[in-house]
Amino acid sequence: MRKKVYVTRMISGEALDLLDKHFDVRVNPEDRVLNKEEMLEAVEDADGLLCLINDEIDREIISRAGKLKIIANYGVGYDNIDVATATERGIIVTNTPGVLTDATADLAWALLFAVARRVVESDRFAREGRYRAWAPSLLLGMDVTGKTLGIIGAGRIGRAFARKSTGFNMKILYHSRNRDEELEKELNARWTDKDTLLKNADFVSVHVPLKEDTYHMIGERELRMMKKTAVLINTSRGPVIDERALAEALKNGEIWGAGLDVYENEPEIDKGLIPLDNVVLLPHLGSATNATRYKMAMMAAENVVAVLNGGRPLNPVNHI
Ligand code: DGY
Repeated sequence: MRKKVYVTRMISGEALDLLDKHFDVRVNPEDRVLNKEEMLEAVEDADGLLCLINDEIDREIISRAGKLKIIANYGVGYDNIDVATATERGIIVTNTPGVLTDATADLAWALLFAVARRVVESDRFAREGRYRAWAPSLLLGMDVTGKTLGIIGAGRIGRAFARKSTGFNMKILYHSRNRDEELEKELNARWTDKDTLLKNADFVSVHVPLKEDTYHMIGERELRMMKKTAVLINTSRGPVIDERALAEALKNGEIWGAGLDVYENEPEIDKGLIPLDNVVLLPHLGSATNATRYKMAMMAAENVVAVLNGGRPLNPVNHI
């Protein structure tokens, strides 16, 4: 009998074709996130689950999944999955590392420039017919070239973000659990503790996974340490930053600006951020390019095929 795979949202047709060749595939027919009841029903008789980063795969869902062998996350971050329970039950969890590194690092740069040069605010200004004449003090922003870049988290995306700075002649500080001597040699980057980085960087970009020890790693105390002229960028996970504290800091001019792609309670955004001109808000688009999403879909599908056909997963995040 063919094994059963549930896909929680429509993804690239080629990835679905690949799954169809091997398994009986069911895809969520609706263009929305499944609710808890639907998810419980979906996993009940599934051998494989291909899910998204906004599908909450918790203990209850994993416990209902009698035959499940693999949870293939369509995304590199997997804080949406209770990996400990999956491991206990012998279920392999996989993710999609590498294929979205450049897209996400590129978007962090897009945010950095958008905030530094007030791109979104200026676009609004022009569209609203408020551009009457060139003026010496119109919509002045921050220089990027020659400034100090602070990178928190030197994994794949943090390193790619750092490497993309080479055209801008920046001084690079980074903070991560482990030192990266290659990065230090290549970019003349300097490892510092988190506080030193926050006090000295003109631009701080966060690239850490969401874990117990990264939750609210930037809060009121850390925001106070930053320069009044500093810009904070987050393309990792929302809860890494205390969003309410950030809204206050931006409102009170404690830092100069912020660019956010992720939020504490997605898709909700703290109401305090909405009226502010010094923050650019994106709807979690880090990996949102056609080519990247295709590669993510293929990678997730290939993990399902490998595991359900008795092979090793290509991108495991747990060890069974
Ligand atoms: C991920 O893969 O974790 C991103 O946040 C989604 O693109």
